[in-house]
Amino acid sequence: MSYSLPSEHESRINIQGVEIALGFPDEFAFQWIGQRDVMDQLLAAWMVVDKDDLPLNPRIVGKPGVGKTTLAYAAAKSLDKDVYIFQCTMDTRPEDLLITPVVDKTGGIRYVGSSLVTAMIKGGVCILDEANRMSEKAWASLAPLLDTRRYIESIIAGLKVSAHPEFRICVTLNEDASTFEIPEYIHSRLQPQIYLDFPEAEEEKRILRENLPFIDEHIMDYVVNFLQKAHGNNENYTIRDGINIARYAAKRIKSLKGKGNVENLLRQAVVMTLGDEALMYTS
Ligand SMILES: Nc1ncnc2c1ncn2[C@@H]1O[C@H](COP(=O)(O)OP(=O)(O)O)[C@@H](O)[C@H]1O
Ligand SMILES: [Mg+2]
Repeated sequence: MSYSLPSEHESRINIQGVEIALGFPDEFAFQWIGQRDVMDQLLAAWMVVDKDDLPLNPRIVGKPGVGKTTLAYAAAKSLDKDVYIFQCTMDTRPEDLLITPVVDKTGGIRYVGSSLVTAMIKGGVCILDEANRMSEKAWASLAPLLDTRRYIESIIAGLKVSAHPEFRICVTLNEDASTFEIPEYIHSRLQPQIYLDFPEAEEEKRILRENLPFIDEHIMDYVVNFLQKAHGNNENYTIRDGINIARYAAKRIKSLKGKGNVENLLRQAVVMTLGDEALMYTS
């Protein structure tokens, strides 16, 4: 299969006579801190060790907010690749994942490639984010892409699109109740599993510091102490919650211009972020 790709920044492509508009990569300043092991595991899964070898399609599993999306993004960037994030939802349809038709100004039909298809064509990395929110129907369209065939078939545009040899994919899966089971034939194509767990206290503090460089040491220590106690009791509170608590506490302290009691404001930020039950991990 051959495509005419005019230039690196051109966002249209002609495949088998059908013009497809492509998306643009996601640009964030995400840095990965600590836990080198999971980063190495992900990069190894994407590596190709022989001309007859193929990359794997790893799945990153963990509680919401432990850093799955950040890890996948930072890993892809460390390879100097463009990253295309596809946010999966319950309503994701097979064509949303692949190619959707839209009506253009002249009343004709235009085809638009998803971030997944864009990554496949440009040789970037696609992160299928929170993929276990998708129904089985949406997954089915990915079966040939995730095995040795490495193509997708768009029924709507009447096309087969093969993945560029540099294309890589990983999916993130949330360990929570609001998700579907992944069909077995898909699960077996999403290998290996990289499990992401809570970081140690020192690492957690560095992550908070990276995300909130402007926040007082005292707030930082308070939040790390809170999170570590919660992790120790297997609560589902994550770094994202910690970031929100610290951010809100800092705003409250500042807006009261030093007139509020800092300890009370920190406790209040915990309650307003996570509810009363979270108070048992403050001290
Ligand atoms: N190891 C890490 N290095 C840097 N930031 C992290 C790390 N782990 C978590 N974070 C931060 O925690 C927040 C939640 O991470 P995210 O990747 O969105 O979690 P998930 O995708 O698992 O829900 C983000 O603000 C992210 O920057
Ligand atoms: Mg995420």
